[in-house]
Amino acid sequence: MAKPGLVCRKLVENPVLVQMKNAAAKHQARICFDASSGQGEAAEFARSLTRELGIPWQLAEAGQAAFVLRVDSAGLALHSTREAQTGPVRVDFAAPAVQRRARDRLRGQFLLRAVGTGSEVLDATAGLGRDAFLLASAGKRVHLLEREPAVFALLADGLRRAALDAELAPVAARMELQHGDFLDWGESRRCDVAYLDPMFPLPQRRARAKKEMAFLQQLVEQRSEAGLLAKALGCARDRVVVKRPPREGWLEETEPAFSHGGRVSRYDVYLPRSKRSSTRR
Ligand SMILES: C[S@@+](CC[C@H](N)C(=O)[O-])C[C@H]1O[C@@H](n2cnc3c(N)ncnc32)[C@H](O)[C@@H]1O
Repeated sequence: MAKPGLVCRKLVENPVLVQMKNAAAKHQARICFDASSGQGEAAEFARSLTRELGIPWQLAEAGQAAFVLRVDSAGLALHSTREAQTGPVRVDFAAPAVQRRARDRLRGQFLLRAVGTGSEVLDATAGLGRDAFLLASAGKRVHLLEREPAVFALLADGLRRAALDAELAPVAARMELQHGDFLDWGESRRCDVAYLDPMFPLPQRRARAKKEMAFLQQLVEQRSEAGLLAKALGCARDRVVVKRPPREGWLEETEPAFSHGGRVSRYDVYLPRSKRSSTRR
């Protein structure tokens, strides 16, 4: 007869957790790394990174992966196997659009205004690192956290290349990347500003207009945003900034202290209790 303890443990195994684990494994199996691609330092870097992140080098059934990471002469890139006409996505901080935004700062002005004077920013949902790059170009020290292994790999490769470029290297030196889920971030860790740009479902039409966004939407597992704001308020000394589409509701339906924004994005600013009466907009 089975020992009562064992039976109990089996019965109490949380079905939601089991479901989540299965979903995560299925999700991960949609992406693989083409270990035969590239050569030299870039390929070495990608091999050790993907091995560490547990990204499979090939899938049991060929053709099963929706996305393939490949190294080419410009670095690591993510290809869709389903939409061949969509070009690969990579993190390229030298790209004209990224450079223009950092240089003229006009389009990013709202983000910089919302972040304020704090010098240490935690970008808790780093994605392809564009906002983090803008903040680092403005002189902030940015700690980037990214949960999704394939996105993290693209970002790590983008930062590796930036560190080799004389112009980008000083900015890249202010960007520190970490793989992980913000909700698991150490309770005692602090930053001046916590920045959140979680994945919000874009209408297909708008997502298609931005290739990177369309990729991210398919790639990144949609999960609940619950807990992000409370966690951010718990670690930010100065403020929490949340990026939203202009007509989208507040994160977790919580009203911010104030917002900055324009036609493209809105930045909602939340203040920790200790700052609520003294902070300037
Ligand atoms: C909309 S993208 C961010 C885009 C980014 N601001 C940029 O400029 O490229 C959202 C990213 O946040 C990541 N993410 C969402 N929730 C997260 C969490 N709890 N911890 C870490 N990363 C998270 C997703 O994997 C996704 O890559």
